[in-house]
Amino acid sequence: MIINDLWYKNAVIYCLNVETFMDTNADGSGDFEGLSRRLDYLAGLGVTCLWLLPFYPSPRRDDGYDVTDYYGVDPRYGTSGDFIEFMNQARERGIRVIVDLVVNHTSNQHPWFRDARSSRKSKYRDWYVWSKKRPRGWNKGMVFPGSQKSTWSYDPEAREWYFHRFYDFQPDLNTQNPEVREEIKRIMGYWLELGVSGFRVDALPFVISEKGPSIGKPVQDFAFLRELRLFLQWRRGDSVLLAEANVLPDQDLNYFGDRDDRMPMMFNFLVNQNLFYALASADVRPLIGALKKTRQRPITAQWAHFLRNNDELDLGRLTKEQRALVFEKMGPEPSMQLYDRGIRRRLAPMLNFDRRRMEMAYSLMFTLPGTPVIRYGDEIEMGDDLRLKERQCARTPMQWSTEPHGGFTAGEKPVLHVIDDEVCGYRALNAADQLRDPQSFLNWTERIIRMRKECPEIGWGEWQILRTGSAHVLALRYDWRGNAIVAVHNTDDQPHSITLTIDNADRTSLVNLLSNDHSEGDGDGVHKLAIEGFGYRWYRVGGLDYILRRSRS
Ligand code: NOJ
Ligand code: CA
Repeated sequence: MIINDLWYKNAVIYCLNVETFMDTNADGSGDFEGLSRRLDYLAGLGVTCLWLLPFYPSPRRDDGYDVTDYYGVDPRYGTSGDFIEFMNQARERGIRVIVDLVVNHTSNQHPWFRDARSSRKSKYRDWYVWSKKRPRGWNKGMVFPGSQKSTWSYDPEAREWYFHRFYDFQPDLNTQNPEVREEIKRIMGYWLELGVSGFRVDALPFVISEKGPSIGKPVQDFAFLRELRLFLQWRRGDSVLLAEANVLPDQDLNYFGDRDDRMPMMFNFLVNQNLFYALASADVRPLIGALKKTRQRPITAQWAHFLRNNDELDLGRLTKEQRALVFEKMGPEPSMQLYDRGIRRRLAPMLNFDRRRMEMAYSLMFTLPGTPVIRYGDEIEMGDDLRLKERQCARTPMQWSTEPHGGFTAGEKPVLHVIDDEVCGYRALNAADQLRDPQSFLNWTERIIRMRKECPEIGWGEWQILRTGSAHVLALRYDWRGNAIVAVHNTDDQPHSITLTIDNADRTSLVNLLSNDHSEGDGDGVHKLAIEGFGYRWYRVGGLDYILRRSRS
């Protein structure tokens, strides 16, 4: 590796929505001032990068993924000055910030769309995708089946049909239009100038797809990804693009670019779905398959791994039987499911608030080959409220304390109510109580993040699957600069005895990084381990002089 300082290789990313994090002026909506004041909490947890969901001016009919102005902060969250102040305070604490780049579509209230629909002669007409007649596939290809009726809608003002991959209030931008492409770079340039370290790129496969009434199977323009990358890193060398692209593994290199020249990071959706299958079935073999299928990536590129995010848990890439099993174990009620493909619950309720399973799931995610992304509230085992519609159920405000509205707002009416039931309401689960309790999940998460940062092998190293002889137990080994780490996870509730072979002849001991039960192998490096139900181990191969053994390249 020529470049040593790729920060994203070992970042710990925390994703949050400003709107639901902390309200300081009692208007019920979170704000940048509130986020700034909570930075000490985030720094204490140990996260190194925040991913902010959209905070731009927006009617927020899709939680801000319907933007009306790419160059501003919605007044509900404060001013541009508050944003800059927040950026400064984050930087002071060594925390980077990436923001959502939502350029597949705008809001239908965006001035561009308003102008575009007003006349065929509008300068912006060709910024969107139109059809004079109702296209053949007008009711095909919806992303939100059940909530979205079509992908083309008639606009009486424009007197034409317009294309919208998502909801009808999100007209797609004509991303083949060079002017639109220029504008996308401008948006990036603007936020880079304000200090962000990059972007989470929303709906990327659709951004680069051909769009139009007679397009059957759209061709994708991967060359545009290189253009974006070059622009990004010319403007700010240490910034990244984290792509949301739920694609098949044979497409991965098209997105990463086989010469390290397209997306530096992508979310690993295939591993995510198979990880949930492993949690549901206690069978890690499909997860191993997914890891192997997504192994290939250029040297500077990185996978981002996650458990839950702001959307439903999409299980569309599993087989029918596998999906049925995850539904049965983790979201059996129709009210827990969404869009015929996923589960809309938060992680803790999916795992029945079983602390051992929560630890094992997070520990496993933190030891996958890539960069971990955690979701606000998961660190205190926040739950969901299934009475809220679609994905809103898992987007409720952060639970800070036992104060009214969980300390999220001093106002009467929070944007979305704070969960207050007995099991997962703010009186039972909140940050303040958990900070005081050394055994809390919050403090466990802090400790595991701390340990993850001491294991750069995971983000940087070469990995291999070690044979365990059990379909329930996953063992991953990482090698980097003369050192090795082995992570072992038992996804079953029953204990299992396994045998691992560590082939470093000179170093047969495995030093447990999380507790005192180390393992001494026999002369051939064979280790017999007994792992309790949902047990997990992080080992260093050899002694703790690894720090001296680490080579410089
Ligand atoms: C993906 C986002 O995560 C989701 O919340 C949103 O609805 C769509 N993209 C459309 O922008
Ligand atoms: Ca506020």
